[in-house]
Amino acid sequence: MSERWTPESWRKKPIVQVPDYPDAKVLADVEAQLASFPPLVFAGEARNLKKQLARVAAGEAFLLQGGDCAESFAEHGANNIRDFFRVLLQMAVVLTYAGAVPVVKVGRIAGQFAKPRSSATEKRGDVELPSYRGDIINDAAFTPEARIPDPRRQLMAYRQSAATLNLLRAFATGGFANLASVHQWMLGFVKDSPQSRRYKELADRISEALSFMQACGLDLESHPELRATDFYTSHEALLLGYEQAMTRVDSTSGDWYCTSGHMLWIGDRTRQPDHAHIEFFRGIRNPIGLKCGPSLKPDALLKLIDILNPDNEPGRLTLIARFGSDKVADHLPALIRAVKREGRAVVWSCDPMHGNTITSTSGYKTRPFDRIVSEVKSFFAIHRAEGTHAGGVHLEMTGQDVTECTGGARAISDEDLNDRYHTACDPRLNAEQSIDVAFLLAELLKQERAVKARPLPAAAGL
Ligand code: TRP
Ligand code: MN
Repeated sequence: MSERWTPESWRKKPIVQVPDYPDAKVLADVEAQLASFPPLVFAGEARNLKKQLARVAAGEAFLLQGGDCAESFAEHGANNIRDFFRVLLQMAVVLTYAGAVPVVKVGRIAGQFAKPRSSATEKRGDVELPSYRGDIINDAAFTPEARIPDPRRQLMAYRQSAATLNLLRAFATGGFANLASVHQWMLGFVKDSPQSRRYKELADRISEALSFMQACGLDLESHPELRATDFYTSHEALLLGYEQAMTRVDSTSGDWYCTSGHMLWIGDRTRQPDHAHIEFFRGIRNPIGLKCGPSLKPDALLKLIDILNPDNEPGRLTLIARFGSDKVADHLPALIRAVKREGRAVVWSCDPMHGNTITSTSGYKTRPFDRIVSEVKSFFAIHRAEGTHAGGVHLEMTGQDVTECTGGARAISDEDLNDRYHTACDPRLNAEQSIDVAFLLAELLKQERAVKARPLPAAAGL
């Protein structure tokens, strides 16, 4: 591991979850083109995000990370992006106000195109074809032509990411995210749903607080803290050829940054310590995530932390726990204890989506809302018992009114899934279910703070 790192040193390592490109020449041409294109994000922004995440690691802030399971070329509309961003803002404002904690906002967006698959091929009837691996690699249509990996798709993904990011930056700083608009963000709601009433109440209180400050003589417009927000992008950096092409030396620090997104994560299927993905990630200086599933043992985790964050830099590493509501209590405590014992600074985040996927009786891949909520609650309870900070969540969600996860306030049933099941990959929380989760999180964060504020038993009598 002490071998010299370069952006291409991963190429000498074993690798899984890679497409089989038929034409190496086209691939090399595409990668060379990408390497000549402008970066999508700037290293200074990635450093700012790392600082924000260091606050999360210290227990002073909360990470809200969410977005589509997979972005698609077919659905690249402004409305989609706006609706997603609006729900994320609503969730953030619920957490900031009701949970009274600074929220670090990170989208699974503007680069989330490549998907790991459990099987290299997909069989329908007697026909067996290569699996769909995300729009950056091949097409979802079940035909032999569509499933051939095409390197030129990487250029499309780059350009779509640039356009998405451009709009998100405009929303985040150009007025859309102004706290004075907190009521406008409601427009996406189904009228008079319980979530919309609850949200409106909270928005009323925020407006009141702003009016109060204004009446006290504060000029609200002169405070960028109220008018804008910091929004960051993230994706699973699975397709390493693309990621390498986007990796550049930052001229101000001399360090390597992968400029395809602010934060990148390593999937649960590609975290073998001697494999290519870990090799690539150890050399870039972005804040990174590591998905932790049931097969990860405490010793293996510590070894990965040694490789990925040897200097124990807070904010560098976010551990994203994805166990399943029935398994989290069996696996998470031992990992937390090992990390704590070794004094490693990490962000603990909860992905309550990926361990809770089932096939409904109607044949759809779905996630029961109750199980998602149950894993989030267990995650907080475990951290409370261990005396550590439940630092964040990682959600698959959309601003659209889809029917992909069962349950929630409007009790989506197995039969309802067929109505608006639109995901290109895994089932997502819809707008209302997402807001529901935000209110739950705010409650749990409040409880966490109440526990911390309580005097220690030994000091109670003083
Ligand atoms: N700038 C602060 C923040 O990002 C406050 C803020 C402005 C905000 N617009 C927001 C918070 C939208 C949540 C949502 O936290
Ligand atoms: Mn997914």
